[in-house]
Amino acid sequence: MKTMVSTIAIFFNDAIIAAFPQLKDNFDETIVEITPNKQENRGHYQCNSAMRLTKILKKNPRDIAAAICENVDKGDIIESLDVAGPGFVNITIKTSYLTTLVQNIYEDPRLGIEEPEKSQKIVIDFSSPNTAKEMHVGHLRSTIIGDCLARLFEFLGHDVLRLNHIGDWGTAFGMLIAYMKEEVPHVLDGSEDTDLTHLVTWYKASKKRFDEDETFKKKSQQEVVALQSGDGNALKAWSIICEISRNAYQEVYDILDVKLIERGESFYNPTLAYVVADLENKGLVEVSGGAKCIFLEGFVNREGNPLPLMVQKSDGGYNYDTTDMAAIRQRVEEEHADRIIYVTDAGQATHFKMIFQAAEKAQYVDTKKIRLDHVPFGLVLGPDGKKFKTRSGETERLIDLLTNAVQRAKEILHERDNAMSEEDITTIAEALGIGSVKYADLSCHRTGDYTFSYERMLKFEGNTAAYLMYSYVRIHGIQRKINVDITAIKEKINLQHPSEISLGLHIARFNEALESITRDLLPNRLTDYLYNLAEKFNAFFRDCRVEGTAEQNQRLLLCETTAQIMRQGLNILGVTTVERM
Ligand code: ARG
Repeated sequence: MKTMVSTIAIFFNDAIIAAFPQLKDNFDETIVEITPNKQENRGHYQCNSAMRLTKILKKNPRDIAAAICENVDKGDIIESLDVAGPGFVNITIKTSYLTTLVQNIYEDPRLGIEEPEKSQKIVIDFSSPNTAKEMHVGHLRSTIIGDCLARLFEFLGHDVLRLNHIGDWGTAFGMLIAYMKEEVPHVLDGSEDTDLTHLVTWYKASKKRFDEDETFKKKSQQEVVALQSGDGNALKAWSIICEISRNAYQEVYDILDVKLIERGESFYNPTLAYVVADLENKGLVEVSGGAKCIFLEGFVNREGNPLPLMVQKSDGGYNYDTTDMAAIRQRVEEEHADRIIYVTDAGQATHFKMIFQAAEKAQYVDTKKIRLDHVPFGLVLGPDGKKFKTRSGETERLIDLLTNAVQRAKEILHERDNAMSEEDITTIAEALGIGSVKYADLSCHRTGDYTFSYERMLKFEGNTAAYLMYSYVRIHGIQRKINVDITAIKEKINLQHPSEISLGLHIARFNEALESITRDLLPNRLTDYLYNLAEKFNAFFRDCRVEGTAEQNQRLLLCETTAQIMRQGLNILGVTTVERM
């Protein structure tokens, strides 16, 4: 993606080679390091390459920096360069260039984001709860983070396949079916409706009975065999169980406004035997304790013994590892994925490292061509700093957690009371409540644990959804008050005041923010970007009068561009903007 920083990097690349022709062959481009300047009054960007070249060139870094500066083609982009400290180059961008970039963003429906040269097929495996179990807060994090990444890549112009890898297959279904046949036969013949809460209770009860009752244990095992051999009755029971679970998950996806294609573990069932045989043929499988295993270098368990990827259990059954091997193969071979992203809790990091390595060995993927990412995230903690639970100690049902957030948002809106109709309050409370849950999650560095607090996430100050949604509303308020048809404005954006330039610079760096997330998959970069955008907008609005000035119209355009970026940015986070609040 062409960004301001990548353009400057090219200039510096050329300058370094012009100044030091001896570096020309095998030039290591990573030496060209351009970073945003933390102190904006010193310059907009900074180049740190001189320090990195001292060893190679055996010269004083300040002299290197000076030589680089002499060779930089400033063009229409760079206003000035100056060497500071041990050899930093501070880079100031021409205001005219920033102005053009911001004007282009204003005029461009894609907000200055170029279409990718080649659109990629990106598979994102996220959410992925387990049938007959409640979705838990870990699945909520996966859903929110995965959806944000999907929205980002979709906006950038890629072809995203959003997959819900539901845990809908396995031996546990045997117990559940056996139990339900005995206790609630009408549910299994389809003549009685039920819900996931009941299913979860039966699931727990079936486990208990399995451990205590030998005859029941036999029956359960027979059900597993029946299910795996494709017996019609067993399959029907299984699909009813899946449907009940699916309905409950869908409720959560609807309220979150998240789209997913269900492709659970069962989807890969027909290919598992083939995949295991194929892995054996490729000489990757070793039998250990009767189980078929792949041993990979560098993986050991707590006792220091080799940790296998088990592709077939000693009883002949397949498991989570087998399905993931089959899935990765299918995603490359049949979906032609260019990139595959898995979003799960950090606890599964080893599992994915092993899957990726084994898939490479089996030639299911060539990681030189296809990028594989496991996107791990930390735990959700309650206000007490422990794993998130409800007061009763039970794990809170996600749907309750979300409706609570909306309810709290409603109360807050009532307290603020700005003479809104009840209908408006309901709509806004939904956007605010759900937006706050998502934003709170995404704004934390995802690998850390995050503390769930309604109170904190619904605050109108600080780095929250409410603050940003309100900033967006405020811009609309300004526009409504001035009441000029923005599309009819003839003037162009003209950045003059330092606060305007600072806001313009930030707007022009939207693509840089998005680009960085495509690499490290950290959504908090976008929340940080948007929070800074709101702060810079507020500074601009404090320092620069809009209404009734000679600059009114050009400044209205700057307001509008800010609003567009804010709306698009929030949209990528899955946060809905409203016009009033
Ligand atoms: N069902 C799993 C869980 O609840 C997550 C599945 C993630 N995706 C995958 N391809 N393994 O932890």
